[in-house]
Amino acid sequence: MLVLLSPRGPLSLLSEASSKIIPFMFARLTRPGLQRAGNLTLNSTSFRRTFAVHVCDGFQVDVQSFHDNGVGIVQNFASQEECEKMMAQMDTLVSEWDPSDLVVFRTDDKQTENQGNSDYFLDSGDGIAFFLEPGAVDEATGLLQEGRSKHLSLNKVGHGLHVQDSVFREYSTSSRVSELTRALGWIDPVLPQSMYIFKQPHDGAEVTSHQDSAFLYTEPRQTCLGLWLALEDATLDNGCVWARPGSHHEPIRRQFYRNPEYFEQGNKDAPQMLFRNLIQDDTTEPMKWEGKLPEGVPAEQGAYDAGFVPYECKQGDLVLIHGSVDHLSLKNTSDKSRHTFQLHLIEGPKQGVAWSKENWLQLANGRPFLSL
Ligand code: FE2
Repeated sequence: MLVLLSPRGPLSLLSEASSKIIPFMFARLTRPGLQRAGNLTLNSTSFRRTFAVHVCDGFQVDVQSFHDNGVGIVQNFASQEECEKMMAQMDTLVSEWDPSDLVVFRTDDKQTENQGNSDYFLDSGDGIAFFLEPGAVDEATGLLQEGRSKHLSLNKVGHGLHVQDSVFREYSTSSRVSELTRALGWIDPVLPQSMYIFKQPHDGAEVTSHQDSAFLYTEPRQTCLGLWLALEDATLDNGCVWARPGSHHEPIRRQFYRNPEYFEQGNKDAPQMLFRNLIQDDTTEPMKWEGKLPEGVPAEQGAYDAGFVPYECKQGDLVLIHGSVDHLSLKNTSDKSRHTFQLHLIEGPKQGVAWSKENWLQLANGRPFLSL
């Protein structure tokens, strides 16, 4: 029996017979043409020390590489049929949506003006709410730009699809998601939010550099994990995710928090949400691009120069994103959409972890998050 150890303890117990197929599994994790993070140099001695691959019927995940890099890809996590079922369900939800209340979602320097001043955003925690691309609304009329369909105007739908919709709930609560999460080291995972992101053709907006824990803050330690499912192929052209491998060892730079002036002192003219800096030295390299994109022309070059790596993936692949890892995505410049369904989970109360009361997302009456 071969015991593979991760920093958090034994994760895979493989018989000698199954250990013989490890080179095959490794080959699958290094599909030609895809960028891979981390040291993938392999020899028979270092392999057992460096890699712990969790294997189950439906997927394989390089746990050690994820712990080393804070980011990784699980190939073929969902089937083509599952992806298309979720896309069809979203198409139905959008068809039924009445776009009379248009709310834009953005991650640029107007983020606190938008999400920070919107009851619609704050009320979306356990609902199905629709957010538009910044360029979709005619500022003069407040209506969709002429000629734009609502289907091609949406930035995202969130943040309670995992509780409100049967198709998305089925995936979110699947044994596969639970097994993966536990293989990665989460013991009592709970699920605060889910998002469906469209990344529309030609103008799907960039997502600026950030760490997810800034928005899903837990105490006394950060425990957020993002499961980014590609419902369509994600490429350099249509806005795949970029991440800086190893940046999950860096501190959380900012926290998106409820402004007490609004919520406690009752000043309804004050912003609902604000950012606070969490690190003393805000002259560090990552702070230069926090909430922005790294400088550079073209944008890809700026991202490369800052240490970001693109994670292109196929339909059904899952990108793992540690809550502290620095990541972004660039504008979709192609004629292909890049739909994704994303879960963000945290460690639960049985592990002594608490959801910050300052987070934007708060369930009514203190209801607990869905347990995985
Ligand atoms: Fe993110």
